[in-house]
Amino acid sequence: MKNKYLIAGNWKMNLNLDQSISLVKNIINVEISKNVDVLICPTFVNISKVVEIIDDNRLLVGAQDCHFVESGAYTGEISPSMLTNIGTSHVILGHSERRQYFSEDNQLINKKINAALKEGLKVIYCIGETLEERNSDLTFKVIKSQLIEGLKNIEKDYLGNLIVAYEPVWAIGTGLTASAVQIRVAHNKIRDLMMEIAGSVGSKTLILYGGSMNENNAREILSIENVGGGLIGGASLKSEKFKEIIKIANELSLN
Ligand code: PGA
Repeated sequence: MKNKYLIAGNWKMNLNLDQSISLVKNIINVEISKNVDVLICPTFVNISKVVEIIDDNRLLVGAQDCHFVESGAYTGEISPSMLTNIGTSHVILGHSERRQYFSEDNQLINKKINAALKEGLKVIYCIGETLEERNSDLTFKVIKSQLIEGLKNIEKDYLGNLIVAYEPVWAIGTGLTASAVQIRVAHNKIRDLMMEIAGSVGSKTLILYGGSMNENNAREILSIENVGGGLIGGASLKSEKFKEIIKIANELSLN
């Protein structure tokens, strides 16, 4: 039995306003057991409307990125306090797509994590290796530096609001999932590193798996030691698939 699962949908740059409304209306009444949290992360422009529709906090709403400064001359950016102000509880930071397409590195992500945690947001910090790094036996080195550099100088008190998502880059949006053994080994390593970094707080950090998770593989993945939920892209855009994953988490949390 796991203490808690978080099932998080990362909608990425998908769904216009009407489509976002329709999807949230289709999942809003899903049964959620008390040991499961469900989070959806729409694009910035649709967050307010989604929060308004949900209204009662049964589903949590998160953002997919934020800036590290409170306000000012940063054209196009969104600050952490702007997110909390409209009812956002979580923010995804360090996603591999941000690292790959927007040149975000551990140092920049560190500033963002720090600012978001200080603002009271729960941060889903994404880490994971590329296929090239895995094939060169660099997986643990990469994960370690992402955790150490990404969490550098962050006060331990804040780390209770940190969630880690292990997302092997080669498994994202590809239909390839890491094997159960690969996931178990990586999550155990992340647990050890989080305990080194954050002591007893790190022993409780939720560690999500992300990368082509769907309704067919969720039961196996969510049953693995140290897997505390999933960060789900493609399958979160289809209400039936997302609801099925939530149902599986409900069942596993009651076992
Ligand atoms: P995917 O995306 O489920 O479509 O692989 C996961 C993610 O990028 O968070």
